[in-house]
Amino acid sequence: MPSDLFSLKMRASCGGRHISGAEKILPESGVPAHLHSLLERAMHHANGEPDFVNLKLERLSADSILHLDALPVRSLTADSPESGLELMRGMLESLGVARSPEIVGLLRKTHGMRGAVLLDADTLEHLEPDLERGVRATMMDAAESDSGTHCSPCKNHYAEAMVLAAKVANAPGLVAELCISDDPDYVTGYIASKTLGYVRIAPLKKAGSPFGGRIFLYRGKREDTVRTIEFLEQQPVLVHGIPPKPQDGGRIDTPVQISNPQKRIRIALQSLHERKLHRTEEVFESPASAHVTLHGRDTLMFASNDYLDLANDPRVKEAALDAVKQFGTGTGGSRLTTGTQTIHKELERALAEFKSTEDALTFATGFAANSGVIPALCSRSDVIFSDELNHASIIDGCRLSGARIVVYRHNDMHDLERKIASNTPCSGLVVSDAVFSMDGDIVNLPEFLGIARRYQLFSMIDEAHATGIVGPGGHGVLSLFPGLNLRPDILMGTLSKAIGSEGGFVCTSREMTDYLRNKARSYIFSTAPAPASAAAALAALRIIRTEPERVARLQSNVAFFLEQLHRLGIPAQTGSAIIPIIVGNSARALAAADSMRDDDIFVSAIRYPSVPEGSARLRLTVMSSHTQSELARCAESLAKAIL
Ligand SMILES: Cc1ncc(COP(=O)(O)O)c(C=O)c1O
Repeated sequence: MPSDLFSLKMRASCGGRHISGAEKILPESGVPAHLHSLLERAMHHANGEPDFVNLKLERLSADSILHLDALPVRSLTADSPESGLELMRGMLESLGVARSPEIVGLLRKTHGMRGAVLLDADTLEHLEPDLERGVRATMMDAAESDSGTHCSPCKNHYAEAMVLAAKVANAPGLVAELCISDDPDYVTGYIASKTLGYVRIAPLKKAGSPFGGRIFLYRGKREDTVRTIEFLEQQPVLVHGIPPKPQDGGRIDTPVQISNPQKRIRIALQSLHERKLHRTEEVFESPASAHVTLHGRDTLMFASNDYLDLANDPRVKEAALDAVKQFGTGTGGSRLTTGTQTIHKELERALAEFKSTEDALTFATGFAANSGVIPALCSRSDVIFSDELNHASIIDGCRLSGARIVVYRHNDMHDLERKIASNTPCSGLVVSDAVFSMDGDIVNLPEFLGIARRYQLFSMIDEAHATGIVGPGGHGVLSLFPGLNLRPDILMGTLSKAIGSEGGFVCTSREMTDYLRNKARSYIFSTAPAPASAAAALAALRIIRTEPERVARLQSNVAFFLEQLHRLGIPAQTGSAIIPIIVGNSARALAAADSMRDDDIFVSAIRYPSVPEGSARLRLTVMSSHTQSELARCAESLAKAIL
């Protein structure tokens, strides 16, 4: 049985100022000699003489110690600090961290902190409980045979960094660690993660610069950060197999040149494969409908956004064909030059009527609508308050605007108001999905609009998954509150889901459409939607209006499907036709989708970056044309796949 070890820590300070510190994990037999050498180091350190030395000895039971392998080391050389930081940004991107430039920029600002910044990798929210102290990784050492420094009073910075990087890379929820030394003479830093290994990069700053810092990037649930911090601060770890320091003649992998863009692509793809996040298209051999042909097999579709099965409706297809005959296949120009045909204006009138607004404006896609409208409404001097689960097109629209983005907790109106209040006075926008595309729940509209009005901010909701689906006749989330006369400034939607065609739209006041026509770049600088798409959307809208039973059927199908799931012990819920079944990790979601595929049922495994890491899910969607026996069959197959 392995015997217990001891953790020996030393901290020396003078007048409260930190002078030196070190820790070791070692057998009892090594304690006296080490105690002596640490005391020597504390008393005679180049940083000054201490007036206080704290030596702490703790027994660690052998089975509480986690043994980890060191990360593989690579050493990269850039030709300037800017190129070095660019390399770091590229590597972060390869880990799926979209806001890498901001994160690398923050590294300099962490200067002076004792510990590391614990940052949400996606929202960049600070998660460290004490902003001044930061989060510290302690209770760790190189395994005795690896450190090569035991009983030596001199510190081995390289081995210490390798130990720290291995512990941090293995901490739950941590995506990566970034570090630049605050030693003015040491221009090297590193990025480390389980997939990248330990990548030393030089230079990351100019010689003589005292700036440096350390960031731990976290991805996961807020409440789980406690577990991560506990691991970092309290879990005893011994790291094995520390490779020799590269510049000391040790192993150096082929240096990556910043000028080699192909390599960057390869690293990114490799990382996606390793994390089970790599995606390719599924190729169908039939039109979108409740039954599709996939690899020659009749497959039941439970993943389409064509909720009302209108994309293959004979009347909708006929309208598209007629439009091709009347207007041709393309428009040959943008809406403000030669691209507007009578069919576009007719569609916009029908949309405004359907949503009971003064006017409407169409775009090439829903993505183009969001990424054009938001920057038209806000610029650098504004603040945008955005739900953390908003669709990517909203997020990109916010980023394009240059406005400051404040992300509030999902559908948490308390958090929204708190965040607005702490940023007032400000001008800007509050924006939310009406139905959340990966969760199927509905925005708390009365409060959302009340807050926007109270703080005099623009309000915008995205009804991509509400139009044709939610409320009586599928009129959307506003129709859920008939007595309240709710009106967002911008009601956005797409023609590509329940409307069975292609294109985006906004329904709003005449003054606002006039403004957006002149300001929304994706409207102005993009060719007008094809006449066939506009005509198909118009025909589908007419069907939705004249056949409200289709929407009612969709809604009763959803209720029936939920009943089936509950009967089988699956606690699903939704406010729309999207039913998320959260399974946790990507591999599990893929395996469950594959299992259902074996039953000839198609569902989507939704993984990061479409949803936060750790919340991979099956996203099931119900269609109005599913029969009850098909809904029951899907529920049975799902239960088999996940229970
Ligand atoms: C909520 C939401 N908004 C916008 C879009 C983009 O719409 P489109 O597919 O028409 O570009 C989508 C579609 O994926 C969506 O789910």
